Amino acid sequence: MSELSDIKVTDRFSLTGKAFVITGGARGIGFATAKAIAQLGGSVALIDVLDKPVDEFDTLTKRFNVKASYQRADITDQKSLETAFDESVKAMGGQIHGGVCGAGININQPLIEADWDYSLKLLQVNLMGTYWTAKLIAKHLAETKTPGSIVCIASLSGQGIHIPVQDAAIYNASKAGIKGMMGPLAVELGKYGIRINSVSPGAIHSPMTASLEQDAPQLLKWFKDAAPVQRMGVPEDITPTICLLLSDAGAFTTGADMVITGGIHAGRNDFVLPGEGAQWLQSATK
Ligand SMILES: NC(=O)c1ccc[n+]([C@@H]2O[C@H](COP(=O)([O-])OP(=O)(O)OC[C@H]3O[C@@H](n4cnc5c(N)ncnc54)[C@H](O)[C@@H]3O)[C@@H](O)[C@H]2O)c1
Repeated sequence: MSELSDIKVTDRFSLTGKAFVITGGARGIGFATAKAIAQLGGSVALIDVLDKPVDEFDTLTKRFNVKASYQRADITDQKSLETAFDESVKAMGGQIHGGVCGAGININQPLIEADWDYSLKLLQVNLMGTYWTAKLIAKHLAETKTPGSIVCIASLSGQGIHIPVQDAAIYNASKAGIKGMMGPLAVELGKYGIRINSVSPGAIHSPMTASLEQDAPQLLKWFKDAAPVQRMGVPEDITPTICLLLSDAGAFTTGADMVITGGIHAGRNDFVLPGEGAQWLQSATK
């Protein structure tokens, strides 16, 4: 047995005394992550392009006895991101222990109708913004000789699959790019005691998907019906895994992508063989 064997497993999830930067932290999965970290005793420094975070942000310090800060910044602008990062570290008392690169934007646009400016912006937010945030966190940890953990948010869409009701190839590419960085960065950063992993959520109820309720309800219905668990996810389906990766419970996990999709990545409930195949299946299973 190892020296860990007598430590209660839930204690290994504690984030007490630690602090984390979270981009995209103003709402959705990012804010739910901040709340989950605070519940585990960790302080949180949120960075987001929105003017302010959800109202519940104001309650975190009192409810969970942690530090909580908010910096407004655009992660596609180097100066804006780096200034916000420095202010975040200051607000946390000069030391952080990792972070979550969660800011992201989506698209529903066929290639033939693709818009240059928006396609480029998407890559800048999702890919470059994630890479640069990871760089800032890793540099801080290496310079302060502090072991730490970084979690990036990739996606079901980054698994090289096509979702028949959504044209989002550039989004898929950005998320596959995040997933693709995890292995090389895990190897690069291991010598500093830094772990880095991604989570790949399936379809999650959040402000990002809320707009689809009006714009593309068929997409949300597909996500619900096709998932083996028969529902869309909520941010709280994702936050436990992020906290696992940030905490000592994830001490042996680096360079991984954790796929949390309600099973959609594995197969779909609505799959039917087309044409003659379907008839063959029906007769074969009678
Ligand atoms: N909701 C889903 O179904 C789903 C599925 C897979 C992956 N994801 C990913 O999860 C992450 C969180 O998404 P969410 O669903 O909570 O959506 P969301 O829109 O609520 O959150 C994204 C946040 O990123 C922020 N952001 C966007 N551009 C920014 C910029 N330039 N600078 C700083 N902040 C910026 C937004 O203001 C927002 O607060 C995203 O990376 C998204 O791609 C979401």
